[in-house]
Order: sequence, then C-alpha cells, then structure tokens
Amino acid sequence: MKTEIIFLGPPASGKGTQTDRLSTEFSLPHIDTGKLLRAEIEAGSEEGKIAKGFMSQGQLVPADLVSKIIIKKVMSDEARNGYILDGFPRSIEQADILEEALANAGKNNFDNRIVVKLVVDENMLLDRIINRRMCKNCNKIFSLKNYTSDICDECGGELYQRSDDNEETAKKRFDTYNEQTSPLSEYYAQKSLLKEVDGNTSPEAVYQNILNVLNN
Ligand code: AP5
Repeated sequence: MKTEIIFLGPPASGKGTQTDRLSTEFSLPHIDTGKLLRAEIEAGSEEGKIAKGFMSQGQLVPADLVSKIIIKKVMSDEARNGYILDGFPRSIEQADILEEALANAGKNNFDNRIVVKLVVDENMLLDRIINRRMCKNCNKIFSLKNYTSDICDECGGELYQRSDDNEETAKKRFDTYNEQTSPLSEYYAQKSLLKEVDGNTSPEAVYQNILNVLNN
C-alpha cells in the first residue's frame, strides 16, 4: 500500500473524515494542517495570531508560516514509515516547498507516494459545512444530518461549530480553493501521482474507493 499520502479536495469534501480513519487503521501520522493552525490560535502563539486573521477571511495563511509547521512534521521520526497530509500543500508554492524538502532529505522516490483528490459536487459542499460539528476535546467530526447530540460519542467532549463554517466565509474558502489549490491537480497529474476518488457517496463507500487506489 502507498504510505506517503497527500489529500486534495475542496472545503468539506471529506478529507478530515477519511484521513482520521485511514490514520487510525494504518497507524500513519495524520498531519492535519487546519487542526495544527487552530491549535496555534488556541495556544495564543505569534503564528496563531497571524493565522487567525487569514483563516477568518477564508484566505490561505502565508506559505512560509504554514510550511515551517508542516515540513517539520513530515521530516519527523514519527513519519519515517509514511504520513497522511491533509490540507497541505494548498498552492503550487507550497507544493514546490514540499518537493524541495523531500528531495533534500533524499526522499525523491515516488514509489510510495500518491495524491488522492476527493471530487464532490459543489452544490453539496456548503450544506456539509453548515451542518458540520466538531468535538472540542478529540476533534472528531460530526454532521447534524446524522448526529444531533451536542456531546461527542467517543470522549464525551462538547461539540462546537468552527468559526469559519458559516456561509460568508465558506464562499471565500471555495474561491481560494478554486484559484490557488485547484491548479495542484495538473501539477500532480504531470508527475503521474494524482488519483481522483468520487466523494459524493457514503463515507464508507468513499473509504473503500480510497483503499482501492492506495493498493493499486
Ligand atoms: P481546514 O481545516 O483544512 O479546512 P478545509 O480544507 O476547508 O477542509 P474542511 O476541514 O472544511 O473539510 P474536510 O474536507 O476535512 O471535510 P470533513 O471531513 O470535515 O483549513 C481551514 C483554514 O486553515 C483554511 O481556510 C486556511 O485559512 C487555513 N489553511 C489550512 N491549510 C492551509 C495551507 N496549507 N496553507 C495556508 N492556509 C491553510 O467533512 C465535512 C462535513 O461533511 C462533516 O460534517 C462530515 O461529517 C461530512 N461528510 C464527510 N464525508 C461525507 C460523505 N461522504 N457524505 C456526507 N457527508 C460527509
């Protein structure tokens, strides 16, 4: 199975839902960019203060700030047998930074690498965003469509709605995705790394399709 996995896909396409499960089942570190940035905000760090302004506007946090955090994780001992990148890279600039870091570390072998893009109809995404709830404690992802309690079934933590999960910010996030992240499909297709997976079906069906592409 491929073990150096990059996930692409628009906001609410299901990246977090799928990568959480994949990480648990295959013991691969889940490098979740949005979660790491939200932790910086929560901690009140300098990086968090800068990131907050961009995230609340649905814009990308500056590449140097986010790359520093993510590259450190990719190069860590924990990721020596592989990793799942969720939310990084999100622009050609970030993809070049990642390529350079991997090449400098002697990891230029593409045999274990794959880029999975979740493809979801645009008209479903806003609905998923508005209905998403997260656990404050363990970050488990829920949808009001099939879960109505405000307590996490995993750890008993309180559920909350992300501050960028509103219609106005979501529309800006879609624009940012279309302008800056979409070109990565072509970038990785040219390297023969891109695999598209239909993200419109049930989470279970999406997961099985992801396993198929990882094993082929
Ligand atoms: P981030 O937290 O990464 O947000 P995102 O990419 O917009 O992705 P989401 O977390 O919204 O969605 P998801 O695809 O993980 O979907 P989920 O599984 O939760 O980034 C937030 C912000 O941080 C960015 O806007 C930016 O400002 C900044 N940032 C992050 N990375 C950056 C970078 N590299 N550079 C610069 N800035 C960066 O699912 C969504 C909902 O749908 C849930 O309720 C779920 O239960 C439901 N669902 C999932 N799958 C299905 C399914 N198959 N069917 C029905 N419902 C489903």
